[in-house]
Amino acid sequence: MTNRRIVLVGFMGCGKTTVAQELARRLACSSIDLDTFITETHGSSPAQIIKRDGETTFRLIETSALEDLLKQPEVAVIALGGGAWTIPANRRLVENQNCLSIWLDAPFELCWQRIHHGDYQRPLAPDRETAQERYESRRADYALAELRVEVSVEKQMREILGEIISRMP
Ligand code: S3P
Repeated sequence: MTNRRIVLVGFMGCGKTTVAQELARRLACSSIDLDTFITETHGSSPAQIIKRDGETTFRLIETSALEDLLKQPEVAVIALGGGAWTIPANRRLVENQNCLSIWLDAPFELCWQRIHHGDYQRPLAPDRETAQERYESRRADYALAELRVEVSVEKQMREILGEIISRMP
């Protein structure tokens, strides 16, 4: 099994945070969510930053937070925010650290149900149409991740974890 750090990528609602936590539990290591790290270090959540300062400012904050997070060697599993992997500078940071990037590829409908019914605010997915356009336009970037793991309504967490673990290079 790999001793490389793992970075989970994928659209909002694909399950990055939960999979990161469960994977870290299985591998007996620590996980962190980039959005949570931003909230803790900036005192505002990504949603609050996007609404107050705009997406461009948020992306700069996000890149600098990712850079800081990657300097912490004890963090073995990182869940990115849904847009982070679409930014080339962030992909370079992850690749330069030789992290294993894994795309959790969930169908749009599953993501949308979670976005729509979740408590977590997502200003970049305000309605179904906008979310779907963003989902489609980001797939080519997500496909640049080293591994792709399918997520579906039927697929249990233990199957997802088993697949990730067995496919780790
Ligand atoms: C975003 C996804 C969010 C958060 C921010 C922007 C995006 O994270 O980083 O609202 O651009 O897809 P989640 O993927 O955890 O919802």
